Amino acid sequence: MSTLAIATAQEVFDLLRDDLTAIERELERDAVSSVTAITEIAEYLRAGGGKRIRPSLLLLAARSLGYTGHGMIRLGAVVELVHTATLVHDDIIDGADTRRGRPSANTTWGNEKCVLAGDWLYMQAFRIALEERNFKVLDLLIGLTQQMVEGELLQIQTLGRAVNEAEYYELIYRKTACLFSTSMQLGATLAQGTPEQEEALANYGRSVGLAFQIVDDVLDLTATEEVLGKPVASDLREGKTTLPVIHALEHGTASERESILWVLEDGGFRRTPREQIQEILHRNGSVDYAMVAADRHAEQARESLVDLEDSEFKRALLWVLDFVVARDK
Ligand code: IPE
Ligand code: IPE
Ligand code: MG
Ligand code: MG
Repeated sequence: MSTLAIATAQEVFDLLRDDLTAIERELERDAVSSVTAITEIAEYLRAGGGKRIRPSLLLLAARSLGYTGHGMIRLGAVVELVHTATLVHDDIIDGADTRRGRPSANTTWGNEKCVLAGDWLYMQAFRIALEERNFKVLDLLIGLTQQMVEGELLQIQTLGRAVNEAEYYELIYRKTACLFSTSMQLGATLAQGTPEQEEALANYGRSVGLAFQIVDDVLDLTATEEVLGKPVASDLREGKTTLPVIHALEHGTASERESILWVLEDGGFRRTPREQIQEILHRNGSVDYAMVAADRHAEQARESLVDLEDSEFKRALLWVLDFVVARDK
């Protein structure tokens, strides 16, 4: 088979199995605190699973540049810990009651304990990262964490009003794509890639991350809670306008626009039922519009890899693009 052919899910899984198993062991060790409540929450979150997409990207970035050391196991755990910390805080902010198909940590332990558990997880991530004894790694992680926290804050400031596309992209870069990009960059850093290689992999991560969040926002409108494992139809209710909704606001009739704005204002489907929102999006082709945008970013990610040497790891990175746009959870 040509090295350029897209890999299958099974091939990618086989390729990363040992590394991902090692990362799971590291995560098990990392979920332990001297305070029982923290261990309980950290362990609950770890055991909840998740796709582990960020560590997988870090592994693929490092291995695509020939790295084989232990640093990628450590930093793979680090990016998953940072991700977990943002999820705990995000579910508190969003008032979400489910995550990964189970009650969210905040419903079980309450907001106060979960804020602290999130803080602890951030610091645990930094403690593990410190073991690399690499200032560049710390620099990347600190920049990342500040961008993500700023992103959540900027999002809070926009709640309840319609944002434009430029604002939307800024928000999803900060809250999601930045972590994807940094995961790739950390992999490249471990492998001591050239600045050009690091930039190419970072750009790939940024584009996949944007596509990933656009799809997440589409799934919020089209999926079921059963499949997704977290609340659906929640973005608009929480006052967030995502790409399909931005499109409908710009292209719909005055009355369609008004119906959407009511949900934003009311923080619920009181005046406009959820089905009506779905009809409006359907009539305006707004979900298709968002999926075309996601495809475009996936394509940009593919283009970022043109100069990367062919390998099974590069093929896996190309497979991830198809996975991200076709996923249903
Ligand atoms: C959820 O991320 C948060 C977003 C950026 C949309 P994932 O969809 O990767 O969550 P898990 O880790 O698989 O649960
Ligand atoms: C992703 O935003 C935010 C994070 C970076 C945690 P969302 O609020 O859309 O994430 P979900 O849908 O709750 O996973
Ligand atoms: Mg949320
Ligand atoms: Mg979401």
